[in-house]
Amino acid sequence: MKIVANFKANHTFKSTGEYLEKIEFFLRTHKIDSQIAVFPPFTAFPCKQNSLNVKFGAQNFYPVKSGSITGEIGFEQLNEFGIDSVLIGHSERRMLLKESQDIIANKFNFAKDNNFEIIYCIGEPLEIREDGINSILEYLFSQFYGIDTNYEKLVVAYEPIWAIGTGKSAVTKEIDEVLNALKEKIKTPLLYGGSVNINNVSSIVGLKNCDGVLVGSASLDVDNFCKIIEKIDNIKK
Ligand code: PGA
Repeated sequence: MKIVANFKANHTFKSTGEYLEKIEFFLRTHKIDSQIAVFPPFTAFPCKQNSLNVKFGAQNFYPVKSGSITGEIGFEQLNEFGIDSVLIGHSERRMLLKESQDIIANKFNFAKDNNFEIIYCIGEPLEIREDGINSILEYLFSQFYGIDTNYEKLVVAYEPIWAIGTGKSAVTKEIDEVLNALKEKIKTPLLYGGSVNINNVSSIVGLKNCDGVLVGSASLDVDNFCKIIEKIDNIKK
């Protein structure tokens, strides 16, 4: 199982360091088979040097080695910290920052050419959800435009937009239906994200085609995140 914490614009360099100390202790003292990754803000990348069992990833980057792109970071800056995993296509970036599918595909190709692991997010808004499964799948597959779904370091995260940060997770049956349909076409590992928490994680991860979770709000408290890890690790499929 793959368990990913997306901090978004939460936590600082200092608090990420404290977080890491606790989670590393937890992983040393518990037998956990899952892969754990944290996507902190860029300012916390220096904490990576104290991480043995937790993989670090970048929530964003601009598809250049380096250059005149004010406010962005490129390959050189990620490489300095040994970051080789990136998040692409998150709905907050698609919607709040107006990242188009062309921009996203461009980022994808750059990350692929540089051999990054890519966690690629897709998800439908509420009005599409209400339209039924055919509309949902059509919408989701349109988010694969320009994306090589055969890339061997690709992980797809299904995150219904209406379930992100709302406390309103999709019900297990809804998630199951989408993950099964995705797996018929795409052979990569599939994560679910959207208000995953300690109460719903076992039933979500128990689904046949769920290979892990992408956790936002419920990952911010390290003790809570460790409990989620423990629950996931107890699931035998
Ligand atoms: P959430 O965020 O768990 O707070 O819904 C998930 C995500 O956006 O990746």
